[in-house]
Amino acid sequence: MHPDDHVCLCFHVPLGKIRAFVARENPPVASLISECLGAGTGCGWCVPFLKHLHRCHATGAAVDLAISPEAYARDRLTYQRAGRHPAQPTAGLDPAPPAPPTTPPATATLSPERQPPPPPGPADELPPQSL
Ligand code: FES
Repeated sequence: MHPDDHVCLCFHVPLGKIRAFVARENPPVASLISECLGAGTGCGWCVPFLKHLHRCHATGAAVDLAISPEAYARDRLTYQRAGRHPAQPTAGLDPAPPAPPTTPPATATLSPERQPPPPPGPADELPPQSL
């Protein structure tokens, strides 16, 4: 999409405004993009796209939608007539790269003394009690 193309068609919020907003505000959750001219607070069509853009920003990927504005507007009409998003993934929502882990695995930070004990094996089992 071009920066002047509208992502939120209800409130005429262009991609460029959303890019600038996420770069400036670094919103911790996608829903805060609604503070950018009300994006996503109308019919709901653009919400998955706003989430995608937020995920792109959070992972350092290009903040973009791989869909033409014509196809985007046409798919929104279909959405409005059906009252729901399509079951199949919508064009423009190619997955962003996964976020790098923010914390190392718990076992990597434990010292050898703090490792959990191994599960009991046959040698650790108590003999059956005889009566
Ligand atoms: S297109 Fe964004 S809320 Fe309708």
